[in-house]
Amino acid sequence: MEIKKIGVVHDKNLDKNKSLMVDSVFNAINKKYEAVKIPFDENFFENIKKVDFVFNLSTSGGKEGRQIHIPALLDLLDIPYTGSSACTHTICLDKFITKLILSFYNVPTSRFTHIKENEYIENDLNLNYPLIVKPVREGSALGLTKNSVVWDLESLKREVEKIHKDFKEPVLVEEFIDGIEISCGVIGNDEEIIILPLLEIDFSSLPEGVERFYSYRVKNEIGDKVKYYCPARIDKEIEEKIKRGVKASYKALGLRDYARIDIRVKNDEFYILEVNSLPLLIPSYSDILKMGEKNGLNYDDFILKLLEVAIKRYF
Ligand SMILES: Nc1ncnc2c1ncn2[C@@H]1O[C@H](COP(=O)(O)OP(=O)(O)O)[C@@H](O)[C@H]1O
Ligand SMILES: [Mg+2]
Repeated sequence: MEIKKIGVVHDKNLDKNKSLMVDSVFNAINKKYEAVKIPFDENFFENIKKVDFVFNLSTSGGKEGRQIHIPALLDLLDIPYTGSSACTHTICLDKFITKLILSFYNVPTSRFTHIKENEYIENDLNLNYPLIVKPVREGSALGLTKNSVVWDLESLKREVEKIHKDFKEPVLVEEFIDGIEISCGVIGNDEEIIILPLLEIDFSSLPEGVERFYSYRVKNEIGDKVKYYCPARIDKEIEEKIKRGVKASYKALGLRDYARIDIRVKNDEFYILEVNSLPLLIPSYSDILKMGEKNGLNYDDFILKLLEVAIKRYF
C-alpha cells in the first residue's frame, strides 16, 4: 500500500516541550511524506479519516488512560500507527504488572511487592531494606522524594500512606539498588531490533545531602547537575548481559517500534526498574534522542527511522 498522508496525532493541550516535540516530528515527517497534525479534540474522528498512517505522540488523557486511548481507537478504526499497542501500554503503565511479567520470564528486576489502599502492611514483607516506595502508575519521577527510600517499617508505613493519600493508587515497594543508573533505548521489531548505546546517568556530582537517584527535584529542578555518559562506562560483559535482558523484556512485553528501559546495575548484575513504552521525543531533551545521536541519527533521521520500522511492520 502506498502511504499518502501521515497524521501526527497529539494531545489537545500541550506544554512548551510537547509543542516543540509535535512541531519537530511534523517537520521531520514532512521531509519525506505529506504530514498533517491532528489533535485529539472534538474533530478527531473527522480528521483522522483523512490519513492512512499515524505517528502517535499522545501521552495523556484521563487518570488511568494516559497513552492507551489513541492506540485503542486507531485499532478500532483500523488505521496503522507507530508504537506499541494499547495492551502493551497498559502493561507498561503499571510498574507492578510489568515486573510480574519480567519475573515470569526470569528477567532480573529488584524484589518487590504491591500495597493497595487500605491494605494491611505486614511487618515482614520478605524484602531487604533499604526499600524504595513509589506510586505504581506514575512517571517523570512523580511521588519520588528523598524520603521515598526507607530503612525501617515505621518510615515504610509513613511513605506508603503518603503515596496512597497523594495519588489514590496502589504503591510499589521494591528493594533499592544502590548502583549505577542506566537507560537503554530500543528501536525496531523482531529480528531487526537495534539497541542504542547505553546511557549512564551519574548522580555523583549532586550537592551534598541530595539523594542519588531521579527523585522529582533531581529530575526537574537540579537536572543540570546530573552527568550523562553515552556509552555508559561499564564492562563489556555486563553491557552484553543488559542488552540480552532488554531484548528479552521487549519481546516479553510485546513492545513495538521503540521504547526506553530504565535499569540499575550492582555487583555485575542488572535490574530493570521500569519500561517506558512511549518515551517523549523532545529535541535536545529526551534521553532516547541522546542515545540515537551516538548511533549517528540526528533528530529527523531518528523520527524517520521510527516511522520506517512501524511502516515495515504493517506492509
Ligand atoms: N529499585 C530502585 N533502586 C534504585 N533506584 C530506583 C529504584 N526504583 C526507582 N529508582 C530511582 O527512581 C527513579 C524513578 O523511578 P522509575 O521507576 O524509573 O519511575 P519514573 O516512571 O518516575 O521514571 C529511577 O530513575 C531511579 O533513579
Ligand atoms: Mg524512569
